[in-house]
Amino acid sequence: MALEVRITPSILNADRTNLSHEISRIADVSDLIHLDIMDNKFVPNFTFDFDAASEIIASCPIPIDAHLMVANVDPIAVAYAEAGAASVTVHVEAVADVYQTVRGIRKAGARAGLALKPGTLIEEYEEYLDEIDMFLIMTVEPGFGGQAFIEEMLTKIKRTRKVIGSRPVWLQVDGGISLETIERAAHAGADTFVAGSAVFRSEDPAAMVALLREKAEAASQ
Ligand code: DX5
Ligand code: ZN
Repeated sequence: MALEVRITPSILNADRTNLSHEISRIADVSDLIHLDIMDNKFVPNFTFDFDAASEIIASCPIPIDAHLMVANVDPIAVAYAEAGAASVTVHVEAVADVYQTVRGIRKAGARAGLALKPGTLIEEYEEYLDEIDMFLIMTVEPGFGGQAFIEEMLTKIKRTRKVIGSRPVWLQVDGGISLETIERAAHAGADTFVAGSAVFRSEDPAAMVALLREKAEAASQ
């Protein structure tokens, strides 16, 4: 059976001075909005503090997928779930107590995700599979949009798909996803696709989301 494909556009490179308009351009065709939270510590870039992010979460017409690229993430992760994010993803490289934090996220009513930087091996995190709702395999080094997809990550996506087996755990990919790369990622076993610059640098972002979905569905396992 083919995997269910989800497209989760990132607003990192959208016009941040007019976010509600930017979100309204793609809300009808997107599954969730991917919100990149960067603290200038875990990654060398800053996006939104908790208050600004909470406002986006509260006003967004579709569910928010919060990707937390922040150091000492444990307490703030649960706060994001309490603020209404539908999905909260923490980096394994930044979390002190994985079990406690993913359980806290779920207890607050959100889906819990674990993200891995390109150099982090999936095998060490298999033990958490029954406690989470999503693995996020970074296909670029986190911190910036517009980078090239790291082709070597295809092997890691395949391994992660194998490790997930029949569990209802989503496999998200983030970084360099475009019309040119999405089929390879889908074929390797990803089912949930972040796309930032591919969507917001296109003339018709909604049409781009639809095209990305079409390509992913055609290539999906
Ligand atoms: C990068 C972020 C991504 C970013 C992707 O660290 O996590 O979500 O917005 O941007 P593109 O799709 O341009 O690679
Ligand atoms: Zn992201």
